[in-house]
Amino acid sequence: MRQILYVSSSTVTGDKADLVTILEQSRHNNAVEGITGLLWSDGARFLQVIEGPTASIDSTFERILNDQRHYGLLVQRDVTIDERQFGGWTMAHRRATDPVDAYDARMRRLLTGASDTVRNPFLSLMATGSISA
Ligand SMILES: Cc1cc2nc3c(=O)[nH]c(=O)nc-3n(C[C@H](O)[C@H](O)[C@H](O)COP(=O)(O)O)c2cc1C
Repeated sequence: MRQILYVSSSTVTGDKADLVTILEQSRHNNAVEGITGLLWSDGARFLQVIEGPTASIDSTFERILNDQRHYGLLVQRDVTIDERQFGGWTMAHRRATDPVDAYDARMRRLLTGASDTVRNPFLSLMATGSISA
């Protein structure tokens, strides 16, 4: 299996970012393709980890790379894995009005099974607004 972790910037910022559509497409396609992972967004940036059968990740990541809804995509991690680190596929979106504590607790729960190399970029982005992978 292949696992990719990347960061990118939303072309459309704020709550207008096309998050609902992205989530619907991803939920559907990823279920069909056997892809699991986590997509984080604050409306301005994305941090996503996807994992699954190599052929599925290859074709899905190709579509993601060409998606005009984001730019400046930077791969943080691209590895072969034996076991999944995420049981399902989820998107965690923080709205400006979400209480920070509840949101952080939710993210920590979602990242429970992940290795430090995957968890740390998420936690550092949440905490400081910048990635130090
Ligand atoms: C930040 C971001 C993350 C995305 N994540 C996924 C994903 O995990 N799986 C997926 O199938 N599409 C994802 N997409 C959407 C794809 O780029 C593409 O639009 C979609 O897969 C096309 O699906 P369709 O052919 O069913 O319309 C993502 C797009 C963006 C901007």
